[in-house]
Amino acid sequence: MSHTSISRRMVLATAALALSVCLPAWAQAPILIQFSHVVTTDTAKGKAAQRFKELAESRTGGRVRVEVYPNSQLYKDREELDALRLGAVQMLAPSLSKLAGVGGGDFEVFDLPFLFKDHAAFRRVVDGPMGTDLLRKLEASGIKGLAYWDNGFKVFTGDRPLQAIRDFKGLRIRIQASRVLVSQMKTMGAEGSIGPLASVHEALRSGRLNGQENVPVNIQSQRLDDLQSHLTVSNHGYLAYAVIVNKTFWDKLPADIRTILEGALRDATLYENSLAEAENTRALDRLTSSGKLAVYTPTAQELLEWRQALEPVYQEAKGWISPQTLSAIKQVTGAPP
Ligand code: LMR
Repeated sequence: MSHTSISRRMVLATAALALSVCLPAWAQAPILIQFSHVVTTDTAKGKAAQRFKELAESRTGGRVRVEVYPNSQLYKDREELDALRLGAVQMLAPSLSKLAGVGGGDFEVFDLPFLFKDHAAFRRVVDGPMGTDLLRKLEASGIKGLAYWDNGFKVFTGDRPLQAIRDFKGLRIRIQASRVLVSQMKTMGAEGSIGPLASVHEALRSGRLNGQENVPVNIQSQRLDDLQSHLTVSNHGYLAYAVIVNKTFWDKLPADIRTILEGALRDATLYENSLAEAENTRALDRLTSSGKLAVYTPTAQELLEWRQALEPVYQEAKGWISPQTLSAIKQVTGAPP
């Protein structure tokens, strides 16, 4: 190496050192956001998490780095909430059903059967005062709620035909961790078996479960259709998410960075919500045309019977969902009987 190139390298190294001494701490190493979630990258949530990463990194000029860990790669359902509270990850987008443990029973209002007529009804609820009030309830657990992400209507799959409520008698059906969902399955004469999404495939394969409920896109992307023979387009419940962060982490961010991240999340949220409905329609079409499962769509009369049979769930849920939340949701959806 020539003398000139050695001295050029020394000048550069000295300049870099001088720069690093002058620059504030954030300029020396990017702020790291680890974003964990439990679904695949080709779902609306998976794509929006990736979009958030891209927007956050480019708009902060590299001052923020976002690492997305999809499909329970890092943590499963419960674990990721513990990890967020401990600060081992900074960002999650769990389903609202899973938030009762950290935000109180009111989050389970979204699990009430046949609550929303359509996606717009869900958005009216979460974009209104009730949506804001609910997110505030997370703060006591050191969590800040930033946005709601949509998914869609759940259907049932099983290892046998599940056309009427009586067909569920005595079956074990996987549900998410929500008392409303436990009550729903009990009312249907079945046992609701709570477990993380990452374990459903194996539990169905081994026969420990007879069936499960989820949105078409999760059924397809988790390959649950390989293990189930029947699907009923019941659209009996709704699955949606909150994007949440560790509150201490978020509050300590430099104000300008936080503003940029809020903007990035707003755009990622619009993107997510624009994808969700179409993705489920497409996934249901694919599940139907694959021929792996027999798909049954109940008639309007049959769905009315489902609805009536599930009314006791609303009564039972009064035990842990506040009257204010129940009446607020009733005003927007008109749904609870
Ligand atoms: C489930 O556990 O079935 C869902 O909450 C997974 C998800 O995040 O869509």
